[in-house]
Amino acid sequence: MAEQLLYPVPEEWAAEAKVGSAAYDAMYAAAAADPDAFWLEQAKRLEWVKAPTVAGEWSFDEADFGISWFKDGVLNVAANCLDRHLATRGDQIAIIWEPDEPGEEPRRYTYAQLHEEVCRFANVLKAQGVRKGDRVTVYLPMIPEAAFALLACARIGAIHSVVFGGFSPDALAGRIQDCDSRVVITADCGRRGGKRIPLKANVDAAAPRAPSLEKVIVIKATGDDVPMHDRDVWYHEVAASVSTECAPEPMNAEDPLFILYTSGSTGKPKGVLHTTGGYLLWASFTHELVFDYRPGNVFWCAADIGWVTGHTYVIYGPLANGATTLMYEGLPNWPDASRIWQVVDRHQVHTVFTAPTALRALMKEGDAPVKATSRKSLKLLGTVGEPINPEAWRWYHEVVGEGRSPIVDTWWQTETGGALIAPLPGATDLKPGSATKPLPGVHPQLVDETGQVLHGATSGNLCLTASWPGQMRTVWGDHARFFQTYFTTYPGKYFTGDGCRRDEDGYYWITGRVDDVINVSGHRMGTAEVESALVLHPRVAEAAVVGMPHDVKGQGIYAYVTLNAGETGSDGLNAELKQWVRKEIGPIASPDVIQFAPGLPKTRSGKIMRRILRKIAENDIGSLGDTSTLADPSVVDDLVANRATLG
Ligand code: WT7
Repeated sequence: MAEQLLYPVPEEWAAEAKVGSAAYDAMYAAAAADPDAFWLEQAKRLEWVKAPTVAGEWSFDEADFGISWFKDGVLNVAANCLDRHLATRGDQIAIIWEPDEPGEEPRRYTYAQLHEEVCRFANVLKAQGVRKGDRVTVYLPMIPEAAFALLACARIGAIHSVVFGGFSPDALAGRIQDCDSRVVITADCGRRGGKRIPLKANVDAAAPRAPSLEKVIVIKATGDDVPMHDRDVWYHEVAASVSTECAPEPMNAEDPLFILYTSGSTGKPKGVLHTTGGYLLWASFTHELVFDYRPGNVFWCAADIGWVTGHTYVIYGPLANGATTLMYEGLPNWPDASRIWQVVDRHQVHTVFTAPTALRALMKEGDAPVKATSRKSLKLLGTVGEPINPEAWRWYHEVVGEGRSPIVDTWWQTETGGALIAPLPGATDLKPGSATKPLPGVHPQLVDETGQVLHGATSGNLCLTASWPGQMRTVWGDHARFFQTYFTTYPGKYFTGDGCRRDEDGYYWITGRVDDVINVSGHRMGTAEVESALVLHPRVAEAAVVGMPHDVKGQGIYAYVTLNAGETGSDGLNAELKQWVRKEIGPIASPDVIQFAPGLPKTRSGKIMRRILRKIAENDIGSLGDTSTLADPSVVDDLVANRATLG
């Protein structure tokens, strides 16, 4: 039987969708024809202290480079996510929290309760000296207090910078220091998949390398014993004596909302800066459109708040839309492969939004753990973070969704604030593996290496030719790097770093990064970062890191390591180096394989030929191409002969 390549919009969806196929076309056309009018109209979905009179003012050209949206508008993000819902849905559940331990009781917060918690948290921040514009680093597990913390920052105009709980003390210290953050919010410990994550101890270890740090606010989450120092305060102690009223700070639309660090192809992670009005509008607009969100639906984005997906689709998008959002502390496959679907049943989840890597890991366990659950509440499925292989797509569609639920494959980036290319469940026929078509206001363009614009069905490098409200505004502290990173490869355009194919129907198929960034389990990793960590080891002379195919992670990390003269590689050193990178950056950066290489393939001018290293890692030895231009072509034979494989 031929594989089904096109999945038309199901009839019930076509009949009832908020935005059907014709409406999508009309919206797309309207946003293209008069973007200012379109976005000023859309801006009405938010509550403004002062409504904006101007929409996008931007240029991607060097001479007058700059991006702003709604620059004369005034609003507060927390007021939009909380206060304005109080009259209409104060008693509706805003957050359902599912704990790591399956036997433990979930926690639920109505909009009224969440409002109170956020006001209390905001007053705690104020009591600790946090003021508008200050940076607050958030290093928390997936507990409700993480949502309170983010919204509390937004309420008083402080800029939050969330650091994923899986990052090491070193990585945390770098991120605290880069944005001169004086305050860190953390917890005694985190829990994930039955394991403890020593968050407070990690902050203590980071502190000596983060001199800007003055205060640590510690949430008692697990009750583990942790040492408290002069700079530390228990959240619950301060919270006991503050008021639960806190007026939202009126913010300009272009005031910063948050910083989120992400890896690039060069240098240290960049602090991606998002601002207040445009970001919130994009979060709200895309959450409603792409997930066809309706009141009463329980929406579950399974991402951690340490990533942009958690910011936009666990917190800001759903809460701006008055939704019920589910926050899950644990892992999709713990204690077993049924857990994610048990959570769906327990909370009658309508939409589940997760990463292909999680689906591939679950798929390996077979259909039985899925079929042991009902999933009758589940009406819509989403994926994000990396290309989804058609096999995983079909498994998600047939086995998980029993064929009734559309899958929205959302392509976007930390930089884009929210989804840019994605189907609308009631409007777009689906093709497994394609993120389908651009959302209104999104203008993709494919170009070749030289910048030549490519038309029709073709493959090329994916650029965006126009700004959209959710676009990042700068790299924290380094505006020149912002311009240099995204707008100089193809002048006048935003270059995404992704390769992409467009088919005869105008559908987009993201093929993966074309720069030195790899995508490990839906998380972005800069190869340069892993290399820098490896060469810090006293026995390592040089390292080159590339991606390799990995059937669960999508891409694994393949490291070629040249040791100092006189040193020899061993299994022991191999394991030690993997552990070293875990400690330097975090578990997600630890190489899957390490190959000790006496030499790396270099051009005569000393540049490492990564193309060759990638081919060897992919076991695509037949197409290594011309190696005669290398300074020493014989190194390639050694690399091929001693290729490392997943153990
Ligand atoms: C990179 C961005 C999107 C938020 C989570 C990751 C890849 C993302 C898809 C998708 C194919 C995808 C791209 C992109 N990516 N979504 N649906 N299909 N690739 O955010 O860490 O900033 O990574 O993830 O390569 O550039 P991020």
